[in-house]
Amino acid sequence: MNILGIETSCDETAAAIIESTKNNASIVLRSNIVATSLLLHKKTGGIIPETAARQQILYIIPVIQKALKDAKISPGELDAIAVTYGPGLIGSLLIGVETAKTLSFVWNKPLIPVNHLIGHLYANFIKDKTSSIQDLASRIQFPALGLIVSGGHTDLVLIKNHGNIVWLGGTRDDAAGEALDKIGRLLGLSYPAGPVIEQLAQKGNAKAYNFPRPMIDSNDFEFSFSGLKTAVFREVKTIQQLNNLTIADLSASVQQAIIDVLVKKTLNAAKKYNVKSILMGGGVAANQKLRDELLLKSRIQNLESKLFVPSKSLCTDNAAMIATAAFYNNKPVVWNKISANPELYFD
Ligand code: KG4
Ligand code: ZN
Repeated sequence: MNILGIETSCDETAAAIIESTKNNASIVLRSNIVATSLLLHKKTGGIIPETAARQQILYIIPVIQKALKDAKISPGELDAIAVTYGPGLIGSLLIGVETAKTLSFVWNKPLIPVNHLIGHLYANFIKDKTSSIQDLASRIQFPALGLIVSGGHTDLVLIKNHGNIVWLGGTRDDAAGEALDKIGRLLGLSYPAGPVIEQLAQKGNAKAYNFPRPMIDSNDFEFSFSGLKTAVFREVKTIQQLNNLTIADLSASVQQAIIDVLVKKTLNAAKKYNVKSILMGGGVAANQKLRDELLLKSRIQNLESKLFVPSKSLCTDNAAMIATAAFYNNKPVVWNKISANPELYFD
C-alpha cells in the first residue's frame, strides 16, 4: 500500500510517500520532502502565521511533485492521501487540507484526515535508513505510552490500540519546545532555539543554575514550563554581562530542568499504566540529551526494551508520520466532509 502524506500545520510544507511491507511489519519511507520558511522566521524571532501560509501556497505543489518523483511513483499508484487537519495555524492547515481535498477528487483516491499530535507518535513506526530493526512496527506493543514534546504541545497519552487514545495530561501553559524557544529569545539565540540550546549546553555546566523542575512531584501527568521561563529571566537580570560561558551554563541548566521533568513523568506514567511500549515524538524528541536520559533512566527501571524513539529527522514536523498514522487508522472521509480544525486535540 502506498500513501501520500501532506503536512502543513505550522511553517513547514511537507509531503512524503510511505509503503507498507508485505506483512505490514514495517513502514518504509519512499520519499520525504520538507520545505521550510524558517529563514524568514529567523528574522522575526518567531513564526508570523501569514508569512508561513503565503510561502506554503508557493511550495505545496512542487513539494508534492518532488515526493512523487523521489518515490518513483505516479498518482495512479497511490492507494490513499493523508492530510493533517489540525491542530495548527488555520491559514497553514487550510493549504494542506484544500490541496489534499482537490487531489483526492481529481485522482479519485481515498482521503484520510490525521491529527498532527497523533501523527508525531507514528514516526516511531517508520523504518528509515538509520533504523537497524527490521520489524520495527510489529515490535511496538499496546497498551503504549506516548510522550508528545513539540513547539506547541507537551502531552502524555495512553495508546490502548490504534485509534483508541486516552489523554493522561499535558502542559497547563507553555509547551517544552515553546519554553526553550522563549528562553532562547531571552538569551539572544536564533529561532527555533531548541537545537541551539542543545548545542550550547554541550559546553555548559547543567548544575551551574538550580532552576525549578515545575510539577516534578505532582502526582499527575500535568506539566508547566512558564515558571521556568520566569526563573531564567530573573537569573539573567542578576548577571552583569552575558558571555559565552554564562549562556552555555544557562542553556545546560535549563535543558536539564526540562529533561528531568519529562523523563520522570513519562516513566511514572509507564509504570502506573503498565505499558508494553513507550513512544516519544515531536521536535524536542530530537534532543540527544533527552533521548540519552530517557534511555538511561528506562534502563535503571527495567523499561529499556519498551522504549522507542524516532530517528531525529522524523521528530520535527514531516509528512511521513502523517501518512503512517493514516495507514494504521485507515478511515477515509468523503473529501467535502473534511475541514481544517486549528483547535483539534484528543477526543
Ligand atoms: O514538532 P515540531 O517540529 O513542531 C511542532 O509541532 O511544534 O517541534 C518544534 C519544536 C521547537 O520548539 C524547537 O525549538 C524544538 O521543537 N526542537 C528542539 C530540538 N529540535 C527542535 N528542542 C530541543 N532540542 C532539539 N534538538
Ligand atoms: Zn509538530
